[in-house]
Amino acid sequence: MPPPLIILLFFLLFPHERALTHAANGEWELLQPSIGISAMHMQLLFSDRALIFDRTDFGPSNISLPSGRCRRDPNDTALPIDCTAHSVEYTPASNSVRPLMLLTDTWCSSAALLPNGTLLQTGGYNDGDRAARLYSPCSGDAASCDWQEINPALAKRRWYATNHILPDGGVIIVGGRRQFSYEFYPRRTTAEMPRSLPFLIQTNDPKVENNLYPFVFLNVDGNLFIFANNRAILFDYVRGVVVKNYPTIPGGDPRNYPSSGSAVLLPLNSNSGAQVLVCGGAPTGAYVSANNGKFVTALDTCGRIRIDDQNPQWAMETMPGPRVMGDMVLLPNGDVLIINGARSGTAGWELSRDPVLTPVTYRPDNPVGSRFEVQSSSSTPRMYHSTAVLLRDGRVLVGGSNPHTYYNFTGVLFPTDLTLEAFSPSYLNSSYASMRPQIISPVSQSKVSYKQPLVVGFTVPSGQIDNGSVMVTMVAPPFATHSFSMNQRLLVLGQGNVTVSGNSSQIRVVSPDSGNLAPPGYYLLFVVHRNIPSEGIWLFRCLTSFLARFDFRVLARCDSHLAAWFSRL
Ligand SMILES: *[C@@H]1O[C@H](CO)[C@@H](O)[C@H](O)[C@H]1NC(C)=O
Ligand SMILES: *[C@@H]1O[C@H](CO)[C@@H](O)[C@H](O)[C@H]1NC(C)=O
Ligand SMILES: *[C@@H]1O[C@H](CO)[C@@H](O)[C@H](O)[C@H]1NC(C)=O
Ligand SMILES: *[C@@H]1O[C@H](CO)[C@@H](O)[C@H](O)[C@H]1NC(C)=O
Ligand SMILES: *[C@@H]1O[C@H](CO)[C@@H](O)[C@H](O)[C@H]1NC(C)=O
Ligand SMILES: *[C@@H]1O[C@H](CO)[C@@H](O)[C@H](O)[C@H]1NC(C)=O
Ligand SMILES: *[C@@H]1O[C@H](CO)[C@@H](O)[C@H](O)[C@H]1NC(C)=O
Ligand SMILES: *[C@@H]1O[C@H](CO)[C@@H](O)[C@H](O)[C@H]1NC(C)=O
Repeated sequence: MPPPLIILLFFLLFPHERALTHAANGEWELLQPSIGISAMHMQLLFSDRALIFDRTDFGPSNISLPSGRCRRDPNDTALPIDCTAHSVEYTPASNSVRPLMLLTDTWCSSAALLPNGTLLQTGGYNDGDRAARLYSPCSGDAASCDWQEINPALAKRRWYATNHILPDGGVIIVGGRRQFSYEFYPRRTTAEMPRSLPFLIQTNDPKVENNLYPFVFLNVDGNLFIFANNRAILFDYVRGVVVKNYPTIPGGDPRNYPSSGSAVLLPLNSNSGAQVLVCGGAPTGAYVSANNGKFVTALDTCGRIRIDDQNPQWAMETMPGPRVMGDMVLLPNGDVLIINGARSGTAGWELSRDPVLTPVTYRPDNPVGSRFEVQSSSSTPRMYHSTAVLLRDGRVLVGGSNPHTYYNFTGVLFPTDLTLEAFSPSYLNSSYASMRPQIISPVSQSKVSYKQPLVVGFTVPSGQIDNGSVMVTMVAPPFATHSFSMNQRLLVLGQGNVTVSGNSSQIRVVSPDSGNLAPPGYYLLFVVHRNIPSEGIWLFRCLTSFLARFDFRVLARCDSHLAAWFSRL
């Protein structure tokens, strides 16, 4: 047989798409066959534990509350006396799970970390729709470390809302089902009422409500970029004024819940400005079709826009395949991981088909056309109600999938999933071990104020450092639910500028100079060498008393640096 025929045969046997897919690009690991609940909401805490919770009103979960405790709630729509947990804390180091007690319904709620590292979770459904719940990280397995509820705390019911931390350390809560308004936690004045946000009425199609869980990002000028349905505004939340209207995303298809695409603020560095990337979703009409049993192919496009531009325009790119309900995760090296979701249908009970098992990475700085790379396949469908968050060691924790009103393990197309997996991006491959940096200073939990020079000491096993390809990144750990990670933010603090002293190297960077760039709170700091990140360390970004004095909402003063937390160790 002449060679061309062999080649032809090869392509017939291994279709082109397969040939382009690297056989082993990243690795999957099953961490837990069951954590007892399905991971609808997930947040990494500075205690290196992941807080995970579901809704409370679907009946019993597969994990009991400790010490024979039960929740008695006559308003629970499924089980007035419930002795199972609907929230757990997962510890990656010991691969163990601890059940937690939620009192009211957290279904489709929202959250943000406060500057002191406590999670502020708000809203939900039914008896929980105006609640605020706080979870402070703790060490050990102290039973005292559990949810605290304040109910009611919100001025309005918030179901499918989005939270974002603000430069002064307060939190804004935007929208929610049939709530065309926003409010703050803590409240800005005692008498303050929620303020209306007409943009949420304008983007609301009453039959489909394709603007829930709006994509909210803090722009570098201090205003909020709010994307809902198929367009966005730049919003001055202090004055309640729309500063800018962005053009409609080309194609005009909806990108928010239930047409759930996803979005990230791309890595912030000094030369590319603030850019947002919106990927996937479901076309106009897909939700109605899915309700009629027809599962329309999802969108395969991403729109990228510079949000701080005078004349912002969308640039469109095509993903390797269609995806609805994908999760977008910023990796420590600045790549974007697009993971989970389905090829057809929409978010909502029983409304999607064709799981997408292969994650895709996106390299923002590569030339157009060579930004996407298909990763290794998982064997677990992660449909509606799936989540993914970055861990300090660079792995991505993946869980959830429950497209049913209850926990249904049999007789359904996509059984309720209680597993927890880790996806290790290819940078964790042991073949890169010799160039992987290790941070030796500062120590984890160090504090850093604003515009502070920071010398990061590190070593590389091979001792061979490629000076020009060393950078320091800082990642805000986000709250993931419904295909959107609230408060996700990555800053590139500096590149190059490496010196050597003794057997270690130092890279000199400066911490961000304003709360608009990086609100106060806990961040993960990484050294990245030749695109391979170190393990992260926790950095507490705090305000000096001088700055903090002017704003009492700020809970992140350098001088009261979580003495409380350390005393519990
Ligand atoms: C790790 O790297 C080696 C060498 O480049 C490669 O053969 C292997 O497939 C990679 N494994 C994974 C899981 O990426
Ligand atoms: C959860 O509990 C149900 C009912 O006891 C059982 O059928 C199911 O196998 C359990 N699922 C897992 C993943 O443990
Ligand atoms: C149940 O709901 C009613 C009416 O909304 C409320 O008055 C009552 O306090 C609720 N009970 C509990 C235990 O939450
Ligand atoms: C963080 O702040 C919240 C809100 O003020 C408070 O309830 C919580 O106890 C604080 N957490 C820690 C660890 O100090
Ligand atoms: C799921 O389980 C519930 C309660 O066991 C049952 O009523 C419901 O019909 C099941 N749903 C499906 C889609 O099978
Ligand atoms: C990085 O480059 C500088 C100047 O070009 C040099 O002095 C230094 O030794 C280099 N560092 C390493 C680790 O190679
Ligand atoms: C680096 O040098 C210091 C002393 O200068 C020594 O204590 C340390 O073990 C060395 N580390 C490595 C990784 O060689
Ligand atoms: C490089 O480090 C020096 C201090 O050694 C500092 O003055 C300078 O600003 C740094 N340059 C960059 C680009 O970070």
